[in-house]
Amino acid sequence: MQLTVTKDMEAFHRALLTSAKEGRRLALVPTMGALHAGHLSLVEHARTLADTVAMTIFVNPKQFGPNEDFAKYPRALENDIKMAEKAGVEIIYAPDAEDIYPEGYSTSVSAGPLSTQLCGKFRPGHFDGVATVVSKLLLRAMPHVAVFGEKDYQQLCIIRRVVEDLDIAVDIVGAPIIREADGLAMSSRNTYLSAGERGVAPRLYDTLVNTGREIIMGNVTTKAAIADAIKLLTALGFKVDYLELRDSDTLEPMDGFEPPARLLAAVWLGKTRLIDNIPLE
Ligand code: PAJ
Repeated sequence: MQLTVTKDMEAFHRALLTSAKEGRRLALVPTMGALHAGHLSLVEHARTLADTVAMTIFVNPKQFGPNEDFAKYPRALENDIKMAEKAGVEIIYAPDAEDIYPEGYSTSVSAGPLSTQLCGKFRPGHFDGVATVVSKLLLRAMPHVAVFGEKDYQQLCIIRRVVEDLDIAVDIVGAPIIREADGLAMSSRNTYLSAGERGVAPRLYDTLVNTGREIIMGNVTTKAAIADAIKLLTALGFKVDYLELRDSDTLEPMDGFEPPARLLAAVWLGKTRLIDNIPLE
């Protein structure tokens, strides 16, 4: 199939129809652009699950709080198109905000209790914005499968909940976190880091790994291991929003250690908010 790049929903649907008429299975990879190897790994994974891979590129205003970085969020559409095409994306849909949220738009998808804890506690409304746009994008594309990164682990859990609750007929597939050589999880927001901050940033992943090891070994309580980790991160210059051990499936808080579990953290380094998580099995 020839590459289609469009911001027009009808053109998007025409490209999807061409693919469907050939009997091809469709995978969707939703993104906000400023693509990096993490996004491309989702495309690669999607190609193993479907015949046609479509990507959406949309910086969704509804998932940014009033004091967050919507205006300065990196935008690099031309380069994104080149990278996506090279990775095997055949359909790129990059709608305008007025098309997704036209005048009079008023509906919001609220994902319930999952969306008010962890990151949701510090970013009120964020996950409703995510749930709303992902629902709309899935309904516009109606893919067989959609691939999301475990980098945004809570987001992945919420999206699974939403599609199940709203009967959106799509398989949600999670893909592992892609990291820089020094362990820092790739993120479009890493470009905000100063050289000094970039040097410190990988210590977040190191700390998660070491804390995870301590919890698994069981020489200290989970609570003590986490308290030590927060102390260390703070001494290194991070401001910790949270560092918590949760059930991998339900995201329920966990006091002891009952695998499968996930150690999740959100921290600030200067003006940049970083999130990361690791599985503990
Ligand atoms: P964005 O931050 O652009 O991420 C798009 C997808 O790429 C998400 O599923 C995210 O988890 C995944 N991703 C980002 N960094 C990754 C990494 N280092 N390794 C693996 N996967 C990674 O997440 C969003 O956009 C938005 O909230 C969106 C779902 C598109 C809704 O607006």
